[in-house]
Amino acid sequence: MIVLGLESSCDETAAAVVTADGRILSNVVLSQIEEHAPFGGVVPEIAARAHVTQMDQIVDRAMKEAGIGFDELDGVAATAGPGLIGGVLVGLMTAKSIAAVADIPLVGVNHLEGHALTVRMTDGIAFPYLLLLVSGGHSQILVVEGVGKYRRLGTTIDDAVGEAFDKTAKMMGLGFPGGPAVEKAAASGDGTRFKLPRPMKGKPGCDFSFSGLKTAVRQALADLGDDVTDQDKADLAASFQVAAVDALLSRVKQALKIYKADYPDAKNMVIAGGVAANKHLRAELDIMMQKHKLELVVPPPALCTDNGAMIAWAGMERLKRNETDTLDLAAKARWPLDPDAEPAPFAGYKA
Ligand code: KG4
Ligand code: ZN
Repeated sequence: MIVLGLESSCDETAAAVVTADGRILSNVVLSQIEEHAPFGGVVPEIAARAHVTQMDQIVDRAMKEAGIGFDELDGVAATAGPGLIGGVLVGLMTAKSIAAVADIPLVGVNHLEGHALTVRMTDGIAFPYLLLLVSGGHSQILVVEGVGKYRRLGTTIDDAVGEAFDKTAKMMGLGFPGGPAVEKAAASGDGTRFKLPRPMKGKPGCDFSFSGLKTAVRQALADLGDDVTDQDKADLAASFQVAAVDALLSRVKQALKIYKADYPDAKNMVIAGGVAANKHLRAELDIMMQKHKLELVVPPPALCTDNGAMIAWAGMERLKRNETDTLDLAAKARWPLDPDAEPAPFAGYKA
């Protein structure tokens, strides 16, 4: 089987073709970074317009690179939510048109399920596994029990961790996207110089919070006054990174108690989402997993950030189970993976 997958829920316009055994025949990702950079964050209206302009060309390239025609597809998948609704509509409408014209099944994919199932394509990981999903749009800890079966242990109650990286970078004028910029600046900084909070650390449950950390960075910058040196910025970036990772780890530690008690035979912990590219986070999690005798599995960086292959693969997993959608499927701005989990009122679609 061969599936085409489209992704357009944030600031990447992406299309990819994958096979049932997890081979990626093409994976074309067009980032809108340059369009959003002047604003230091993703502007929804700009994103939606850019998806409209680019999507058909990106699909065309993905099909050409895969070397197949639409008549050779067994299905077409697109992100149907959660995310910026203008963008989601563009990808979903494109997929519906392809499904109608090529007379193939449509699968509307939950973007978070795309991130969650990527390791099954890249590493053939079996269910269940613990997943730390950390990106600009989401911060969640879930147990992936099966296709469509998620148990959310924790979520952000305000900002996503990637958002905190992006805002920290913006405040210090380090550029966009902020994660890689903060990581680079942090490399020559002293992470112990600024005493920043570790939100939620020591609290019960597994929820995250990052808005207080962001405010603390703003305060530290204000205290430095007008003459902020490059060394000050490096030290603040390093202190922020240490605090953010420490905050994440404290929540993973909580989640591990539940995971080990309720899934005693489980072997894996997975990180996904753009922040999974962060080397400090990976190193610290690796140490923690070794202690707990679990294997840490991380998809390659290009499959951690938003892409079409993860959507095509999630569509493939659905298609294998005959779970397809009709052409009247609606796009959803909010679509939690675990519908039984408590909503986090200040997190919006991030929860
Ligand atoms: O998964 P992704 O491409 O898009 C969303 O769904 O949000 O994640 C992008 C996020 C951005 O906030 C970016 O700053 C962050 O991931 N990020 C990083 C790193 N690389 C990307 N954060 C920390 N360290 C990195 N190396
Ligand atoms: Zn994402």
